[in-house]
Amino acid sequence: MPELQGKVALITGAARGQGRAHAERLAAEGASIIALDLCGPLPASVKYRSATTDDLDETVRLVEKLGGRVLPVVADVRDFDGMKSSVDVAVEELGGLDIVIANAGIAVVSEWDRITPKAFRDTVDTNLIGAWNTVMVGAPHLQKRSGGSIVLVSSAAGVRVQPFMVDYVASKYAVTGMAKAFAAELAKDNIRVNSIHPTGVNTDMATNPSVQEIFAAAIERNPRPASLFTNMLAVDLLEPSDITDTVLHLVSERARFVTGHAMTVDAGITLH
Ligand SMILES: NC(=O)c1ccc[n+]([C@@H]2O[C@H](COP(=O)([O-])OP(=O)(O)OC[C@H]3O[C@@H](n4cnc5c(N)ncnc54)[C@H](O)[C@@H]3O)[C@@H](O)[C@H]2O)c1
Repeated sequence: MPELQGKVALITGAARGQGRAHAERLAAEGASIIALDLCGPLPASVKYRSATTDDLDETVRLVEKLGGRVLPVVADVRDFDGMKSSVDVAVEELGGLDIVIANAGIAVVSEWDRITPKAFRDTVDTNLIGAWNTVMVGAPHLQKRSGGSIVLVSSAAGVRVQPFMVDYVASKYAVTGMAKAFAAELAKDNIRVNSIHPTGVNTDMATNPSVQEIFAAAIERNPRPASLFTNMLAVDLLEPSDITDTVLHLVSERARFVTGHAMTVDAGITLH
């Protein structure tokens, strides 16, 4: 029997990357998927390509190929009202909601004195307010099911500093704290809330050459913090499916007493 048979999962940032991998795997385990993504231009400070509706269509195709049910939703996690109305419709259609993965995020890479006020706000708006909106939209549906599981996608940069992205680190540490705060209150409704903390993952966010160039130039001007980027295990980038394994564990019955936990999937980058 698949682990998530009969469950419904909302996944944000599902057009590509980690969100797509989570959608495929949860569907393979029997869950119906609400695959939400902006599918549009990311803030101008983001230096890698934006996802499109073609990307979200590809997620839909991959999930359906596995025999799964998936409803694509084009929405902006920064927009509470827009997100709520479209998610409510999708949940109604699928008959309820059990799992929420707040995965949508952006990364603006810049040295501390080159991050503009707008870029800082953009990052916080997407990564922190967007995750808050996702929980606020999803949790009331989980309450109606008398329980469920929420995973907030933070980062290794949400438990230990990574340099040249003050905005990102600030937003992801805030997500780490927010997961614990929600966990404390939502336990009453049998809703578990955990955060996950990946090291670098092989997606557009981490691999784009323009992002790598900004890091390289920053390290040249200020080399010492570069040591903070070293994974202890002999791997430079994880694959999205490596992160999915942890997500699947946290949303499954096997983790039924795990809540308020900040789980690293970080090849040991946060050890030093
Ligand atoms: N790639 C890494 O190295 C890495 C490491 C640690 C944590 N993370 C986190 O993992 C999560 C997934 O990132 P990824 O690596 O798959 O990157 P990605 O850029 O491939 O995917 C992110 C998705 O989020 C969507 N998105 C962005 N802003 C949105 C908004 N306002 N509303 C709705 N959707 C929006 C994008 O369109 C995109 O499809 C992010 O929260 C990221 O911060 C990534």
